[in-house]
Amino acid sequence: MKLNNQIIIAVDGHSSCGKSTFAKQIAQKLNYIYIDSGAMYRAVAYYAIKNNLVQEKHILVEELIKQLPDIHIRFQRNPDGDLETLLNNENIEEHIRGVAVSELVSEVSKIKEVRAYLVKLQQEMGQHKGIVMDGRDIGTVVFPEAEIKLFMTAQPEVRAKRRYDELIAKGIDVSFESILKNVLERDYNDSNRKESPLIQAEDAVVLDNSNMTIEDQMPWLLDVFKNKNLID
Ligand code: DC
Repeated sequence: MKLNNQIIIAVDGHSSCGKSTFAKQIAQKLNYIYIDSGAMYRAVAYYAIKNNLVQEKHILVEELIKQLPDIHIRFQRNPDGDLETLLNNENIEEHIRGVAVSELVSEVSKIKEVRAYLVKLQQEMGQHKGIVMDGRDIGTVVFPEAEIKLFMTAQPEVRAKRRYDELIAKGIDVSFESILKNVLERDYNDSNRKESPLIQAEDAVVLDNSNMTIEDQMPWLLDVFKNKNLID
């Protein structure tokens, strides 16, 4: 599919509501670049762990800020066509999805200087448009001029149930209550932090997929494109 103009698509919203799955699908359909901005925060958390900048589960913030210029993040396509995250030329994709990074990343994403550093990189990645980026502050801070801003959400219980089913299918023994608690905690942290909290941009289109399947989402987006005269 081809849009009338090359644009930027910002996908923000709550955790575990399928932002990256949908953002990837959109990029594929439009032949756009997909950037997972959360992976960049995760890469910084991984750097902190690897470089002994974590003490008793807390980041040595001053030291991390000093070392920011040594942190080089880029993405590279694997043979399946998926983008993988590289930190200083090392493929860290597998490491950044694990528990250690997941536990630390929200602390990393609160640091103003880290955000400024990553936002600049993200803006450079979008300078030629033709990009779909997902995160928490893409439509509000990174690309306030984005032509399409999606704000994705779903009821916490629905998100927790999806996550629970995923983990059970992988043979990981968890309780639904603990997953729901984690979803609610992450919502609270994302929406209440001082630096760039998750807020819905005024001009964002809300996609609440509580009662939708993944297949329902693309036709929904095509209507959005039509309403904004981006396709004929
Ligand atoms: O989407 P994710 O779970 O991979 O994001 C990881 C963390 O980074 C999460 O704590 C939210 C934060 N984040 C952010 O603050 N800003 C973004 N643009 C993307 C992610």
